[in-house]
Amino acid sequence: MTELVDSKNLDKAAKCLKEGGLVAIPTETVYGLAANIFDSKAVRGIFEAKGRPSDNPLIVHIWSIEQLDDLVEEVPVEAKVLMEKFWPGPISFVLKAKDSVPRSVTGGLNTVAVRMPSHPVCLDILKKANVLVAAPSANSSGRPSPTKASHVMFDLDGKIDFVVDGGKCSVGVESTVLDCTKYPFTVLRPGAVTVDDLSELVAVSTKFESGEEAKSPGMRYKHYTPAAKVYLVDDVNLYLSRFSGKKVAYIGLDDATGVDFKYIVKDLSEYSQFLFSRFRGFDHKGADVILAQVVPEKGLGLALMNRLKKAGEILE
Ligand code: TXA
Ligand code: MG
Repeated sequence: MTELVDSKNLDKAAKCLKEGGLVAIPTETVYGLAANIFDSKAVRGIFEAKGRPSDNPLIVHIWSIEQLDDLVEEVPVEAKVLMEKFWPGPISFVLKAKDSVPRSVTGGLNTVAVRMPSHPVCLDILKKANVLVAAPSANSSGRPSPTKASHVMFDLDGKIDFVVDGGKCSVGVESTVLDCTKYPFTVLRPGAVTVDDLSELVAVSTKFESGEEAKSPGMRYKHYTPAAKVYLVDDVNLYLSRFSGKKVAYIGLDDATGVDFKYIVKDLSEYSQFLFSRFRGFDHKGADVILAQVVPEKGLGLALMNRLKKAGEILE
């Protein structure tokens, strides 16, 4: 059985993590499903619980910069600058892995993605467990990433040992993934640390559009899909007549009339924070169709549109 614990009772969950259990932990981006990277059975358990393809590598989560020495061959000076600025926080760095890093964690690659999250409960449990932890998003593969403990329970109850409840995630979309094995660095997955943020300090290019040869294996798979069909719209009012007889939900910046359920956000941060949560919420309410408003692909809008395009199709 899966046990839900609150942030004041981390000891049991931390011990379990250290000893090879599967523990869902809060982070500022989305909840992660954590396991000790040196316990091969635990790492296998992550892939099994999520139904995740084994060639899709995991992000290793650290709480102190010194732990990089155990994971990577070297950290380019430009990456150090970024770590100083954005860690702890929502960005993962892909670096050349030490031979000692299990290839089950890296999906067989000789690189490893590393992140230092900022969520205090996450840092607490990592320190208490005192092991290096791999943690993909704690959803069933293909479903929207979980941003509340109840989302994890919905997908993984009975398949993992603990869920640590750390409240609602503040960012809501997964970390920026930056490949630092070649300069200029390449953004493999856009996130809350934006291309503009990075470009102020280092040279970056983006490569996450190229589906087939995507360097980040995770970007090849279907993602983020609720049960309802998702369509992307600019002006929702122009498309409503196409869905008569269906229960229609809407999420976006502009208001909408004539929909069954709606969630109006005030800005891109709120849109990102609540996107996955609303996908799940609209499903619970029985929506057949979710219309999501498109946003300009810049700043945080790039991360948001990347997730939206994977979840649904653009209505012309
Ligand atoms: O915010 C996040 O990053 C969350 C929280 C829990 O930290 N984690 C997360 O993990 O989103 P996951 O496994 O759902 O997504 C990891 C992404 C995948 O697209 C994967 O392919 C990519 O990072 N990735 C991991 N290691 C990589 C590597 N060595 N090279 C290229 N891409 C890598
Ligand atoms: Mg994921």
